[in-house]
Amino acid sequence: MRVDGEVAVPGDKSISHRALILSAVARGPSRVTNILQSADIGSTAGVLRALGVAVPSLSSDMVVRGVGLRGLKSPEAVLDCGNSGTTARLMAGVVAGAGVTARFEGDRSLSSRPMGRVAVPLRKMGAAVLLPPGGGLPMDVVGAPLHQIDYVSEAASAQIKSAVLLAAVMAGISSRVREPAPSRDHTERMLAARGVPVRFHGDGAEVLPVDELAPFDTRVPGDPSSAAFLAALAALADSGTLRLTGVCLNPTRAGFFRLLERMGAKVRIEAAEEGGELVGSIDVAPGTLSGTVVKEEEVPSMIDELPLVACLAARATGVTEIRGAAELRVKESDRIAAVVTNLRRLGVDAEELPDGLRVRGGTSPLVGRISTHGDHRLAMAFGVLGALPGSAVEIDDRDCVAVSYPSFWSDLARVVS
Ligand code: S3P
Repeated sequence: MRVDGEVAVPGDKSISHRALILSAVARGPSRVTNILQSADIGSTAGVLRALGVAVPSLSSDMVVRGVGLRGLKSPEAVLDCGNSGTTARLMAGVVAGAGVTARFEGDRSLSSRPMGRVAVPLRKMGAAVLLPPGGGLPMDVVGAPLHQIDYVSEAASAQIKSAVLLAAVMAGISSRVREPAPSRDHTERMLAARGVPVRFHGDGAEVLPVDELAPFDTRVPGDPSSAAFLAALAALADSGTLRLTGVCLNPTRAGFFRLLERMGAKVRIEAAEEGGELVGSIDVAPGTLSGTVVKEEEVPSMIDELPLVACLAARATGVTEIRGAAELRVKESDRIAAVVTNLRRLGVDAEELPDGLRVRGGTSPLVGRISTHGDHRLAMAFGVLGALPGSAVEIDDRDCVAVSYPSFWSDLARVVS
C-alpha cells in the first residue's frame, strides 16, 4: 500500500470552539476563517445562539458580532451540547461568569460524563451549579457575582482550566488555575490576543480583570488530532510520503508526532508562528515501527490520540504500554475498555490497566467488527487499521466521525493507492 499526496486537514476543534465563544462575547465583530464545520462546533454555535448571540451558520469565512461581556441573556430553552464536552464545560464557565441562568443537556454519552470537575471550581467562585446524582447532565448553572480563586486542579484538563479562566474574564475578575501537567493552552493564548492580561505560569495560567474583550480575527489552523490519523496510516504504509499542511503544532498538542517518530516512522516537521500558534507541515513516510512506553507526563500532549496509539501498537513489533491515562475512561466512551475490547475482537493481544493499556504488536491480518459506542476517535483509529491491505474491519457507526472530522473517510481514501 502506498500513501502519499498532500492534505490540509480541517480546522482545529479546540481552537474553533474558543474562536466562536470569544468572538461572541467580544465588543463588536470578529472574523473567523477555516473554522471546523463539524457537529461539535455546531453545538457551541447553537448554545451561543440560545444565549442571544446572532452566530451565523458555520462557514469557512464567517463574521461573529460579539455582544460584549455583559450582553448574554438567560435562554428560554435548554442549552443542547450534543456530544461535546468542550461545549458543556467551557460554556458552564461563561454562563456562570455572565450572571445568567441556564440548563445544559447533551446526548447519552455526554450526559454520563463528569461535570463535577467544573462545578467544583465554579461553586468556589460563587456560582450555583446543580448536578444530578451521577454528576453528569442535565446541569443547571445559576450565575451570580463571582469572586476570584486560585484553583489547584487535580487533572491536567484544559476544559477545567478554561472554565475557570472564562468565568473570571466574563465576571471581570482575576483568577488562577494550577494543573499537575501542562494541558493545551489555547484559551489563555486567545484571551491574551484579545487584550486580557494573562500570566503564563509554569504550572498553569492566571487572568487579570478586564472590562471588555477586543474583537479579533482568527484563522483556525488545521487540527493535529485529525492529522494524526492520516499520519499513522502513512507510517504503516509500504511506501510513499504524505504531507499534512497548515497543522497546529502547539507543543501541548504535538506529542503524537514525536511518538510516531520514536516508534520508527520518518517524520519531518516544519513550523512557524502564525496568529499566536505554531503552525506548519508534517511529512510522514513509513518505517519499521517498534512498541514504546507512553509515560504519564506525555499523556496530556496526545490525550485524544491515545486510541490511535493503541491501534498503531497492534502493528508495531513488541509491546506498547500507556500509563497515567485514567482520563481516557471519561472521554466520549471509556476509551481504555473500548479500545482493548475492540483490539481483542481483531485478534490482538491487548489488556486493560487501571490507568492505561498494554498491547503486544504484530497481529496480521486484522479481521472483525468494531463497536465505536458512537465515539468518533474510535471510528477513525480503527478505520486506519481497516485501510491496511488484508484487513477487514467493519465499523458499526462510520458516521460518528461527523463530530470532529466529517471528511475523514474521503480524505483516507484519497491518499491510499
Ligand atoms: C479539550 C480538552 C481535552 C480534550 C478534548 C478537547 C479542549 O479534554 O480531550 O478533546 O478543547 O479543551 P480535557 O480537558 O478533559 O482533558
